[in-house]
Amino acid sequence: ALERTFSIIKPDATERNLTGAINAVIEKAGLRIVAQKRIRMTREQAETFYAVHRERPFFGELVDFMVSGPVVVQVLEGEGAIAKYREVMGATNPANAAEGTIRKLFAKSVGENSVHGSDAPETAAVEIAQFFAGNEIVG
Ligand code: CMP
Repeated sequence: ALERTFSIIKPDATERNLTGAINAVIEKAGLRIVAQKRIRMTREQAETFYAVHRERPFFGELVDFMVSGPVVVQVLEGEGAIAKYREVMGATNPANAAEGTIRKLFAKSVGENSVHGSDAPETAAVEIAQFFAGNEIVG
């Protein structure tokens, strides 16, 4: 089915001017960027976004990192977009990511791993709604 997923190009990637290179991998995989904006996340936005990880030992580090520089938030659309983008991103830890994936190509570490993508349709809907109004998404 035609799906939408939420993507973040993280501060380690924007800092190295990799937005275009990452978008090229996304588009080459057949995903369409139907919404995109460069923002600086507030601490409150980052804490809300990652609330599910609040009890994890790396939560503080994760929030600090996500507010450390600009991010690019995106909505990606395509057939099976959620699973497809997870495939294109590669494993969370770049050490385990397959050849050709965004994280294998660009990520620095499990924390500074260049991109985020939604893990399921329910989370995709919640994540998209946190950052985009309906009229900002143009399919
Ligand atoms: P993301 O897909 O954005 O969702 C949660 C994030 O937590 C994940 O990507 C990683 O960047 C981060 N994360 C997961 N495990 C660790 C870890 N052991 N140390 C630091 N950050 C982590």
